[in-house]
Amino acid sequence: MQTIVIVDPEVDFLEWAAHQLETPSTRVLTAGRADEAYKLYFAQEADLLITETHVQPFSGLELLAKVRLKDPNAMVVLTSAFGTTQSVIESMKLGAYDFIRKESLPFNLKVVVDSALKAQAEMRAATTFKPQLTVDQHQDSIVGQSEAMQQVFKMIGRVAHSEAPVMITGESGSGKELVARAIHHYSRRSDKFFVAINCAAIPETLLESELFGHEKGSFTGAVTQRVGRFEQSHGGTLFLDEIGEMALPVQSKILRVLQEGEFSRLGGNVTLHADVRIVAATNKNLEQEVARKQFREDLFYRLNVVRVHLPPLRQRVEDIRLLCEYFLAKTSLQKHLPRVHLSEEAVKVMENYPWPGNVRELENTLQRATVLATTDVLLPKDIPLGMVGDSRTNVNGGGETSGNETNAVGGNGVGAASAELASALSTQAAVELLFQAAAQDNSLQLLPWLEREFTIAAMKLTRGNQLKAAKILGVTRATLRKRIERFGITRELNIQ
Ligand SMILES: Nc1ncnc2c1ncn2[C@@H]1O[C@H](COP(=O)(O)OP(=O)(O)OP(=O)(O)O)[C@@H](O)[C@H]1O
Ligand SMILES: [Mg+2]
Repeated sequence: MQTIVIVDPEVDFLEWAAHQLETPSTRVLTAGRADEAYKLYFAQEADLLITETHVQPFSGLELLAKVRLKDPNAMVVLTSAFGTTQSVIESMKLGAYDFIRKESLPFNLKVVVDSALKAQAEMRAATTFKPQLTVDQHQDSIVGQSEAMQQVFKMIGRVAHSEAPVMITGESGSGKELVARAIHHYSRRSDKFFVAINCAAIPETLLESELFGHEKGSFTGAVTQRVGRFEQSHGGTLFLDEIGEMALPVQSKILRVLQEGEFSRLGGNVTLHADVRIVAATNKNLEQEVARKQFREDLFYRLNVVRVHLPPLRQRVEDIRLLCEYFLAKTSLQKHLPRVHLSEEAVKVMENYPWPGNVRELENTLQRATVLATTDVLLPKDIPLGMVGDSRTNVNGGGETSGNETNAVGGNGVGAASAELASALSTQAAVELLFQAAAQDNSLQLLPWLEREFTIAAMKLTRGNQLKAAKILGVTRATLRKRIERFGITRELNIQ
């Protein structure tokens, strides 16, 4: 006879689940509270505990931690109506057998329970992992409800506290770096550095010195000693991005570090030791590269111990609405712009678009749409689909202009509206869009055009108050008047 304890605040759910799971050889005991379930589980020597994340007087995650602290082999399945990224990862990290989002019920409860009971019978390996129940401030920065992303979260939770190298694969912009950071964040190394290096962005000749450092005078240009990324990430995680681009000689050196934990600086004869966890990513098919002898087979097997694959966004359309919500909220917060929403038609358009640049393209598209929004609900026409491609110039990434520039435009206290305008202008998105427009239309002379547009905008913003408009534009009132005349915009502005 096997015993399952289920805890959930919903009586209906308990009844339904008990009905599903009870068999002549399986008894199901139910509880409405976590503390009851804890007692029941141990008193009845249960084989499986199924707990909702939202239970009283402590959470399902805490119950999981408590139970596994006392019985490291305990089989626990979490259920949740929400299934946040954070809770899925945490639960896996704490050793949950699985996490079921309730909306995917009723299909898989029985299947999961059967496999958990089977695994429980087979697996008795003790775990040394000590649970930490710290609440993470950055929770849910990886968004996704699709089955594929739930699998990714589970993988992150399972591999985070191991030391095994991880290989992350997926198309450009699909979230590989985000996953690498999450693995570090949830690992025991999280208080040490996460060091990322993009192997494709660094010339072959410099990559070796970048990774391993060099001694003074080891090559022309090596005027000082330099500590490499391996040394920098000692105790932490080294993220080797685009590893498929790494030249063969460097691959050999990496292999040595992985095998022996040793390396030396270029031109140096001291052997250094690295306690570094490697996470690598690629959008290439490395198996193919191995077959083409462009990637060392032995290194491939070393790195490929654990593989996390991120499917392209077009294969997880269910996530698009959620990602849109997330990025719209994030952009408005970061850019101090009013929060905009998507109309239902706009969501449909987004869901039907193939997103060749994946999540990065979606994020950039929404940032541009937010910056340029004139209403608070975006219609399909307001979404610049296909304009941003998979461009890496993310509005947040390196595109931010300095505070000084912002001041030069609008930091002169003419009110919230101009601050908003300044904020929009301080993004590279607006500039990029203008450059694109200029590239498409040869007759467009950008600066004179901008001057005209700014003049109109300032006049509209200040409802025709020339003094205020001149102040925003940083010109005298007389100059403003001349411009209005020169640009022939008197009529447009409805002024006499
Ligand atoms: N699931 C997600 N939830 C929230 N943001 C995401 C998600 N996936 C990706 N992003 C965001 O999309 C952008 C691209 O992600 P990331 O840099 O991790 O992609 P990548 O796979 O490393 O791309 P590349 O191969 O081009 O380097 C980042 O700004 C990242 O924060
Ligand atoms: Mg990347």
